[in-house]
Amino acid sequence: MKGKFLGAFIGVLVCFMFVAGGALTAADVPEKVTIENSGYKKDKKGPVILSHKKHSAEYKVACTECHHVYKDGKNVWKEGDPVKKCSECHNPKKKQGKILKLQNAYHKNCKSCHKKIIKAGKGKPPFKKCTQCHQKKKKK
Ligand code: HEC
Ligand code: HEC
Ligand code: HEC
Ligand code: HEC
Repeated sequence: MKGKFLGAFIGVLVCFMFVAGGALTAADVPEKVTIENSGYKKDKKGPVILSHKKHSAEYKVACTECHHVYKDGKNVWKEGDPVKKCSECHNPKKKQGKILKLQNAYHKNCKSCHKKIIKAGKGKPPFKKCTQCHQKKKKK
């Protein structure tokens, strides 16, 4: 009787650890991120939903294609490091030295990769059509 109880207890414990571990990875790499910044001169377009996890797991895009911290011209960011919002470094209103304005930073990041894929005939990610990335803008 006691043995059975202990067995069940360990079973539950292992289950719990499994779930907790799963939740931790899911929190590390969010399934989807909604990109919706404020502070633009004109906020003309609606938010963009990025299939974040799909991009890394299914499309095999390295984290460092999108996340960076530059030191002496080299990207020193690595998986597990804290992630800052793009807007913490890229100003929505103006370019600062070499650091692109926020809108251009996003467009350059997303579109230059998508363009390469289209050119190589490896898929049809959104490039020209704004509405394939941008949601309809909500009326305020
Ligand atoms: C590959 C995806 C993608 C495509 C295609 C795309 N954009 Fe964007 N765009 C973004 C992302 C991501 C942002 C950042 C959104 C934010 O910060 O709110 C952005 C921001 C913007 C902004 C600045 C924010 C705002 O709401 O004013 C403008 C303007 C804009 N895009 C216009 C366009 C236009 C016009 C097109 C079509 C010719 C287009 N975009 C196509 C991804 C895309
Ligand atoms: C295709 C580009 C892209 C790839 C690949 C990518 N990310 Fe992201 N990630 C983003 C964007 C964009 C954001 C939102 C940033 C913002 O809002 O300014 C983000 C946000 C995050 C956040 C913060 C989430 C939150 O809710 O605040 C974490 C953590 C993160 N990414 C980790 C990773 C890790 C780890 C990898 C690799 C396994 C990865 N990312 C791959 C573009 C990417
Ligand atoms: C910690 C500050 C910081 C954060 C956070 C940051 N950037 Fe940057 N980014 C920079 C700096 C600095 C440069 C200029 C690097 C150079 O040219 O030496 C740069 C350059 C770029 C470039 C042009 C070079 C290239 O790689 O093509 C793009 C595009 C870009 N960032 C997009 C993004 C996006 C998208 C995000 C959010 C997912 C982001 N950045 C987050 C600091 C940052
Ligand atoms: C380094 C490459 C790379 C970067 C950077 C990248 N993508 Fe993609 N994206 C892909 C690939 C690969 C596909 C799948 C294309 C296909 O199969 O047709 C894709 C597909 C998409 C799709 C359509 C399918 C889906 O999963 O929703 C959207 C929307 C999209 N990307 C948005 C973005 C946005 C927004 C950014 C910038 C924040 C971004 N991507 C940055 C490689 C990239």
